[in-house]
Formats: sequence, C-alpha cells, structure tokens
Amino acid sequence: MDRQSQTPAYDISPANVTEKVIASFVMKTPRQQQLLNSLVGHLHSFARENQLTHAEWAEAIGFLFRCGEISSDKRDEFMLLSDVLGLSSLVDMTDAPQGATEGSVLGPFYASDSPQVPLGGDLRPTADGTGQLVLGRVVDVDGAPVPGAAIDMWQTAENGLYATQDDAVPDNAFRCKMRCADDGTFSFTTVLPGPYMVPDDGPVGELLRAGGRTAWRPAHFHFLVMAPGHRSVTTEIFVAGDRYLGSDAVFGVRKSLIVAAEQKDGRPVIDLTFRLARNDVPLAAE
Ligand code: BEZ
Ligand code: FE
Repeated sequence: MDRQSQTPAYDISPANVTEKVIASFVMKTPRQQQLLNSLVGHLHSFARENQLTHAEWAEAIGFLFRCGEISSDKRDEFMLLSDVLGLSSLVDMTDAPQGATEGSVLGPFYASDSPQVPLGGDLRPTADGTGQLVLGRVVDVDGAPVPGAAIDMWQTAENGLYATQDDAVPDNAFRCKMRCADDGTFSFTTVLPGPYMVPDDGPVGELLRAGGRTAWRPAHFHFLVMAPGHRSVTTEIFVAGDRYLGSDAVFGVRKSLIVAAEQKDGRPVIDLTFRLARNDVPLAAE
C-alpha cells in the first residue's frame, strides 16, 4: 500500500495514477507541496480532458526537447515560450504590489554591464540633431520622491536593433545605469526605439507561425527601477501610436505603460513617473 491510497503502490490505473504520483512526492515545504500537487493534477487533467494521444504527447515532448537543444547561455527558448504563452506577463501582473508601476517582461537583451551615465547624459553614439529627451521621476505609491533611486535602461535604436546586435554602433549605446537626483528625478537624451521581432528561428517561432501569430513587438524602452527599502520594478514603456501595440508577441503592453512624445520648447519630450512600493519583508539576517 502507498501512503494515501487503498491500493498497492504498484497497482497503477488511470483512475488512481494522479493521486499516486502526488503521494510519491514529499516536498520540504507546504508551498512546494502545494505547487507540485497542483502541477501534477493540472498536467493529468490536461491529458484526460483532451484524451491526449501518444503521438500528440510525443510531439509535445519533442517540442520541449528542441527548446532545450537551441537554448544556450545567450538564448533561453523556455523563457521565450513562457513569454509568448503569456505566462511571464500573467506572473508580472499577479505578483505585483498594489499602487506600484505595472511590471512587464525583462526580455533577453538585458545586460547588467550598462555604463553609469550622469544625469542628463546622451545615450546616442553621436549627438547629432535634437534627440528625444526622456524625463522621469521615481516616487513611492503615495507620490513622495524616493531617495537613493536608480534606473537601468536599455532600448533599441530606431532600426529596431539593440546596440549589441548592430555592428554599426558601440555596444554601450542606447543603454545606461543612472542614479536619480535626491528628489527622485532623472533625465537622458536618446532616440525613439523601433519595433522588432522576437527571435523566431527556433521551436517557439514554429509555434507562432502554426498559430498564425506575429513575432513583432511594439517599440519600447526597458526599465529596471530600484531604490533602497523598495520593491524593484522591471517594466517597459511603449510609444503611443505604434502599429503593434495591440498584437505584442509577448503580451507585455499595459495601458498605463503607453506614453506619447510631446513637443516642449521645440524638442520632443517623454515624461515618466515610476511608482515603487515599500519592501516590507525584512531581509533575512546573514
Ligand atoms: C524584448 O523586449 O527584448 C523581448 C521580450 C521578450 C521576448 C523577446 C524579446
Ligand atoms: Fe525589448
């Protein structure tokens, strides 16, 4: 007999296999046990409700195998799968503090070694022309400035390429780390980013094509906004009017994250406010 069932552990049937698999796991914490039980239950329900055939099951396993095969330290096909299935966005939205700026996907182009740029810096490789001014401030959920705030920002150029993808520009262009002023403000000059496609030359691309879906993402700036004592937010700012706002391949667009470039004193300006929630969970003592 196994721990929960009235039948011997080897006596497996369609009617009892789910409970036997669940009973076979003894996880270290109640939360792990809850997640594992739920995962097994939902997976088995999926197979039962759809009367999954052996061929369909094998195709799905093959798909996951190919996601693993194409993944490397530079490419995470499982993350991309989570993104195009809307799972990344769902968790961004459900595990979010009240009143804070909404989160959005991190994406694969984040590089932690962006240059530290002073307030007001220019992120373009050559400072020709007017440039897009981005002004912003970091406040708490009540609107008060947050001392010690900092941002990490990365974006494509107008051609839809991140600097690391474009041999024509230095790797450090169009990205920065910046410490905000004491009143939480920051500013930099850049260009408006362009739309681009998520990597679609792997199994996830096949899935998108099979489903008649587009790989395009609307133009966006990525921001990681942080401050001592506050929960960091990883988010994106989208440019109003982009043709792909309603069909983002990774479901990252939120209404509150769409901004328009406005003309102020003869130059285009984007004005941003990021709201951070206090991090009330005390850090474990080391
Ligand atoms: C990006 O915005 O960089 C991105 C996000 C998710 C998947 C692929 C790319
Ligand atoms: Fe991106």
